[in-house]
Amino acid sequence: MATRRPVIAANWKMAGSQQLGEEVLEKFKLLPSSSAEVVICPPSVYLDSLQQQLSKHSSELVNHRISLGAQNMSHQEFGAYTGETSGAMLKEFGCSYVIIGHSERRRMYGESSDIVADKFIMAQKMGLTPILCVGESLAAREANRTFEVLNGELNAVLDKVGIMAFDNALIAYEPLWAIGTGKSATPEQAQEVHAFIRQRLTEISPFVGEKIRILYGGSVKPSNAADLFTRPDVDGGLVGGASLNASDFVNLCRIAS
Ligand code: G3P
Repeated sequence: MATRRPVIAANWKMAGSQQLGEEVLEKFKLLPSSSAEVVICPPSVYLDSLQQQLSKHSSELVNHRISLGAQNMSHQEFGAYTGETSGAMLKEFGCSYVIIGHSERRRMYGESSDIVADKFIMAQKMGLTPILCVGESLAAREANRTFEVLNGELNAVLDKVGIMAFDNALIAYEPLWAIGTGKSATPEQAQEVHAFIRQRLTEISPFVGEKIRILYGGSVKPSNAADLFTRPDVDGGLVGGASLNASDFVNLCRIAS
C-alpha cells in the first residue's frame, strides 16, 4: 500500500482573525515537528497577513510543512465578476490549495456540480491544488443513497477533467449531517465511504486511487481524531470549528503525525 502523508486542513469559514493566525503559528513553534502536512484556509482577506506571519516565523517552523489555502475561487479567469476572487490572485497571495465545492457553497450559493468541475479545472490551471468536497445529506444517508450521491458528485468532475487530474488533488468527504453539528461520522462510517471513493478511482486508475489523499470533515476534534485518522483510507481531516482554537488545531496535527 502506498504511504500517504496525512493532511490536516483548517477551514476557518467566515470566522477567525489575524490574531488567530499568530496564535496557531506560535503553537506550532512549540511542537518539535509534525509529519502531517498542514493547510490553513482563512477568509481571503487574511491570506496576506498569514503569508507574512509564515515568512516571519519560517526559521522556527522548518520542521513543519504549513501551506496556505483558500476557501473558494471563481471559475472564471478574470474580468467583470463583482465580489469574486480569481485563482491567479490566490496564487499571488501565497495559496497552494483551494477548497472546491464545499457543501455550504453548493447549498447556500447554488454551486452546481458543473460549476464545481469548472472551478476544479481553473484551480489547476492557476497552479493550485483543489480540495474537492463531497458528501451526502442526512436524508440521502437515511434513504441508503450515500454512494449514489457521492458517485454523482465525483462523476460530475471526473467526466470533465479525467482521472489524471486527480493526481494533483485532494478529496474531502464531508457528510452534511456531521458538519458543525458536533456529531461526527463514526470511524467505521468514514472508513466505509473513504474506501468506496478510493475504490471508485482505483477502478479507473490504480495509480491515482492508491495515491490520492482523502480527508474526513465533520465535527473532527481532538477527542475523536485518533480513531478517525488511523483508519486505512482516512488520510487526515478538513477541520472547521476545532481549527478556530489554536491548541485544538495543533493537537489535531500532532495526532495525525
Ligand atoms: O470544511 C470543514 C467542515 O465543513 C467541517 O466543519 O465545524 O464540523 O469541523 P466542522
